[in-house]
Amino acid sequence: MPGSAKSGCVVVGVFEPRKLSTPAALLDKAARSALSKVLQAGDMDGRAGTTLVLHRLPQLASERVVLVGLGAEKSFDAKAYRSALQAAFRAVTSTGAADAEIHLTSLSAGKHDVAWRVAQAACIAIESTYRFDQMKSKPGRPASTLKRVTFAFANVSERRLADRGLGQGLALGHGISLAKDLGNLPGNVCTPTYLAAQARDLAKRYRMKVQILDTRDMKNLGMGTLLSVARGSAEPPKLIVLEHRGGPQSQKPVVLVGKGVTFDTGGTSLKPAGEMDEMKFDMSGAGSVLGTLKAIGEMRLPINVVGIIPATENMPGSRATKPGDIVTSMSGQTVEILNTDAEGRLILCDALTYAERYDPAAVIDIATLTGACVIALGHVVSGLFANDDALAQEVLAAGEVSLDRAWHMPLHDEYQEQLKSNFADFANIGGRPAGAVTAACYLSRFTKKFKWAHLDVAGTAWKSGKEKGSTGRPVPLLTQYLIHRASTNK
Ligand code: BES
Ligand code: MN
Ligand code: ZN
Repeated sequence: MPGSAKSGCVVVGVFEPRKLSTPAALLDKAARSALSKVLQAGDMDGRAGTTLVLHRLPQLASERVVLVGLGAEKSFDAKAYRSALQAAFRAVTSTGAADAEIHLTSLSAGKHDVAWRVAQAACIAIESTYRFDQMKSKPGRPASTLKRVTFAFANVSERRLADRGLGQGLALGHGISLAKDLGNLPGNVCTPTYLAAQARDLAKRYRMKVQILDTRDMKNLGMGTLLSVARGSAEPPKLIVLEHRGGPQSQKPVVLVGKGVTFDTGGTSLKPAGEMDEMKFDMSGAGSVLGTLKAIGEMRLPINVVGIIPATENMPGSRATKPGDIVTSMSGQTVEILNTDAEGRLILCDALTYAERYDPAAVIDIATLTGACVIALGHVVSGLFANDDALAQEVLAAGEVSLDRAWHMPLHDEYQEQLKSNFADFANIGGRPAGAVTAACYLSRFTKKFKWAHLDVAGTAWKSGKEKGSTGRPVPLLTQYLIHRASTNK
């Protein structure tokens, strides 16, 4: 029974206009219609996003009741469910409650089952208490006094699903937090060496295999494009390989390749000074790979996944690559570097060639690759490119389920012409038109041997302005993709 156990607060929903959800109606009955009276008085009408904290209602053991507006019942879908939980945790953390009993998880939200609902709720609980204060000299006020959260579900028969959802939601939350931390750390702390140390930590904690390749290894492998980006920097580049082997030995792995430019000055083709600080987020693809591996490691997901991270700074300097320089990639193809600021594709292409040795079932690269993608899609969806339609559909579907969406972008042959070079096999830039597409076209020249998808997360991996900070995207999408794949035993 909602509210019958002792707790700091109990959270129930109200539909618009002024309709108590089932748990709220039960609570109302126990509390001698106290909630009905509040609705009648007009203090809560159920509009989405609104909340109301009530204290010491009659007959309830719980200290507080938090009412959460859910919007209209017929439009209460997955997105509305998530927004309601976000509002709920905002309200709960604004009180001094040490524990909370959440009843929103027993409402039906579109076609999703209780595992999904509890997973979302647990993940939002973690996200609502996320703070990045490790670089402050004194710890700030904690994000919340909340110590314990209880999630309700309607039927005992749902227990197993709810438990599974809880485990997955917590693991996902932890993966997102790691990706956020790595993104938010400044470039002088989060270096390629630091990312490698993080990968080593994950390997130890979740019994994964880790390999760190250094400059010499890269030279031996012929990774000329990756090394051309690292040339201007005093920080040594790293190629990080982290393997989660949760599936049968014979199962081909999914390979995730994350762009790990720990700071992007543009190199010789130097970027303007304004907002250049945000280029510390240029390793967000790498952060999302490590975050996703943490999540599936914690879940012990039965699937084989290899994470590959080319990590380097992109700096100007007397040894830095110059526009017009021609380098040979690991694939043997030569590249005329017309703009050293188009460095992401130069490090990814060698990492993609390196991925061939894992005989992958599919390869997904994740990169804050182009400003053009931000112009095309803004900060709402990530850009998705793929050389295989079935893979593209799977990635899009994972984005829908996790509400971490992507949008399918074109990759027609006609765009390839923009990469023509008079001096090398091709150039690393294709001019202003369709900049996100020509970047993907460049990568497609290194992915002929496997099914491949590319996520351009330049607009979604972090927020600018007052709320500047990493979003942890697309960890939810990638994790959901892998959960789905593991469940279909591919
Ligand atoms: N890291 C940037 C992409 C980026 C820019 C992400 C702005 C988020 C916001 C990337 O390395 C880059 O500089 N791309 C260039 C490519 C151009 C030189 C073809 C760009 O988008 O301007
Ligand atoms: Mn750049
Ligand atoms: Zn970059």
